[in-house]
Amino acid sequence: MKRFEHRRICVAVSGGIAAYKACDLIRELYRQGAEQVVALMTSSSEAFITPLTLETLTRHPVYRTALENAPDGTPTHIYLAQHMDALVVAPATANVLAELAHGLSGSLLATTALSFTGQPVLLAPAMNTRMWTNPLVTRNVALLSELSNIHIVPPVTGDMACGETGDGKLAPIEHILDGLYQALHPHRDLLRGKHYIVTAGGTAEPIDTVRVLTNRSSGKMGLALADELSAMGARVTLIHTMPVENRTYPCIPVQTARQMLEAVLETLPHADGLLMAAAVADFEADNAQDTKIKKQDSLKLSLQKTPDILEAVRHIRRPDQQIVGFAAETHNVLDYAQEKLIRKNLDLLVANDVSRSDIGFNSDDNEVTLLQPNQAPIHIPKSPKSLIARAIGLTLASSASVASTLVSL
Ligand code: CTP
Repeated sequence: MKRFEHRRICVAVSGGIAAYKACDLIRELYRQGAEQVVALMTSSSEAFITPLTLETLTRHPVYRTALENAPDGTPTHIYLAQHMDALVVAPATANVLAELAHGLSGSLLATTALSFTGQPVLLAPAMNTRMWTNPLVTRNVALLSELSNIHIVPPVTGDMACGETGDGKLAPIEHILDGLYQALHPHRDLLRGKHYIVTAGGTAEPIDTVRVLTNRSSGKMGLALADELSAMGARVTLIHTMPVENRTYPCIPVQTARQMLEAVLETLPHADGLLMAAAVADFEADNAQDTKIKKQDSLKLSLQKTPDILEAVRHIRRPDQQIVGFAAETHNVLDYAQEKLIRKNLDLLVANDVSRSDIGFNSDDNEVTLLQPNQAPIHIPKSPKSLIARAIGLTLASSASVASTLVSL
């Protein structure tokens, strides 16, 4: 499943040098499944990019003036509010922020935003640091943030087109897409106030300076969990072994089981829960070499058990923390999983069958059974990992009955 399937999005572009990045945003929305993207341009944005560019990318005429009706005769701003799921303003200039904060209606962008009452409006500001840090702009952003349907995707620090460096650069497209996904998420406030640690990927245990012992985990399930819990409003810290780019939540890269243990122990006291989606290697070389072992006819490796992270957590966890384990099994899946749930003192265990090639390791889909102490198992048939992650999030929020409705997905 793609993130914006069935979604109709209006991208509004205002006049700043970052206007050209709206092109990538539109393309990415279509790549991620959007049913329709339409563009709205302010007159000053046309000094930076042309309507033809956006018309071509959106495959739809561009909305440019408040004084023209939509094809069906409805005023354009009302038509857009009736037919679009969300309005994304990227880039949003200081002028647009001021217009919207004060409810002005002198432009098509302003009347459209005013008409999106209760519907998501995502603002991605971009301007020079001097302007972004001006108290007037700060005050307008604060006013806008008070509205529940307005979502601000903060700009980032970097080199400005004008040659200065500072805060005010348009957020990366991935941040804007994450913000939009979250704004449209049906459970976007369910985990607000919670902080979850998620581990992801297979650990790699060194044999020498160039070789490692590892496994086939891609980290996709852990990453889907971190993304989904974040979209459900939780604060997330991801501890990962695979490459991860452009996330809005903190990411701690590690390689080995020991490093992962250390990162978990350090972050756990500040968290409401831990989701151990990582495929932690069970063995490490008992004397990893700090030079490259030269080629030879045979080599005997001596291995020892890695520290069991969930076992360590079992002894230090607070009763109010939620600890989630994953069981990767190739046979007797539910029996082994039930035993792990009890032995590891878990609140939730996500069991999956890794002998199947169509789900689990490296796949975009998974099929799992959620086990909780003293509760009937919840089976989730083959679904995209993002939906499995959503079901886990719903279960964490004690909405097990809602999770079971996902069975039909
Ligand atoms: N796990 C862990 N520390 C380890 C190994 C695994 O915390 N050293 C966690 C995994 O992240 C997972 C859970 O324990 O959430 C179960 O992992 P799994 O590999 O299925 O079970 P093991 O305990 O390693 O037992 P076995 O491999 O014998 O099935």
